[in-house]
Amino acid sequence: MLNVQRDYSLLRHNTFGMDVRAAAFVEYGSEAELREAAAMLRSGELPSPWLHIGGGSNLLFTGDWPGTVLHSSIVYCKEVSRDADTVTVRVGSGMVWDDFVALCVERGWYGAENLSAVPGETGAAAVQNIGAYGVEVKDLISEVETLDMQSGEKMIFTALECGYGYRSSVFKRQENKRYIVLSVVMRLGLVPHLNLGYKALAEALKGQDSISAADVRRAVCEVRASKLPDPAVTGSAGSFFTNPVVSREKLEELQSKWPAIPYHEVQAATDREAQSVREGASVRCGSSDRSGGNQVKLSAGWLIEQCGWKGRSLGRAGVYPKQALVLVNLGGASGAEVVALADAVRNSVRDRFGVELHPEVNIL
Ligand code: EPU
Repeated sequence: MLNVQRDYSLLRHNTFGMDVRAAAFVEYGSEAELREAAAMLRSGELPSPWLHIGGGSNLLFTGDWPGTVLHSSIVYCKEVSRDADTVTVRVGSGMVWDDFVALCVERGWYGAENLSAVPGETGAAAVQNIGAYGVEVKDLISEVETLDMQSGEKMIFTALECGYGYRSSVFKRQENKRYIVLSVVMRLGLVPHLNLGYKALAEALKGQDSISAADVRRAVCEVRASKLPDPAVTGSAGSFFTNPVVSREKLEELQSKWPAIPYHEVQAATDREAQSVREGASVRCGSSDRSGGNQVKLSAGWLIEQCGWKGRSLGRAGVYPKQALVLVNLGGASGAEVVALADAVRNSVRDRFGVELHPEVNIL
């Protein structure tokens, strides 16, 4: 029997710390239970609309949720296969992402260590294509298993069919919100292969000659702790905006005025990859929004800092003093106050640089 809780507080389900309520809340522990919830939503036994959440670390509630909030407690990590160099594992959608990374490091599986301490759960990580310190979760994923909430059928997406791009996937498109992640299949390395290209990480590990995945994990946790607020102490959802992708012409225009503007090349998908994504997607889910080639990614944190917002506040919402890309709840802020601050920040960046910032956080 499905455990349905009515008029349920979402306070401990969103890291921004918004004290809002859901008309109904369902935590399911199996595929069968999710299927049951889907049937109850269709029959009206559970109120609509439904919203699926993970760790609530990428959400901003601006009011109560009038329908049903669904949350997975499917937690497992099991080995599927291995060869001389790699191990393939299937991970339940409700597994806390950082618990998975800790497990990988403990077992000597390489590849996830740069994604240490990223908040949230594994299912959402695959939807969002979480990324940090030069690694994105798409680099590990080989397959995503989902349940179609409309048909009640299982649907498997290969990594290419997931259409991964910077903080994006086909699952984020409105027409694909019906696919709920049940498990994620990932491939990790059994032989050391570290990614130390990110400047802040390389600096934190400087002077060490034999570096293990555990060292990388420790360094990433330290760097993150020095820049990002601890969600247990300060309400936030990490980066509030994505880093804006602009044309090279736009970059040159900006460089003529701000020669020190930081930017990164956007990794272009190979033609073959892009083609496969389009073919896979056209059958099932629409095309990927990958970009590349003539485009560059700017640092939203830098743009916001240049506008003088770092450490400033509007009402009870503030711009984090150590990382301007992060908006925080200074205590008791409403969702509307955070949105007002986000709008003010966006307007400043648009006026000064002619660059549009887009929220990474889902505003509900
Ligand atoms: N910068 C500033 N001022 C700031 C913040 C950043 O000038 O207040 C500039 C600096 O030049 C710095 C550069 O921006 O060198 C990049 O900053 P940082 O290394 O902190 O990374 P980011 O681009 O601001 C992204 C991710 C983070 C991820 C880090 C590390 C996005 C939206 N954010 O931030 O992800 O941890 O890189 O890889 O891509 C998240 O998604 O919630 C998140 C925290």
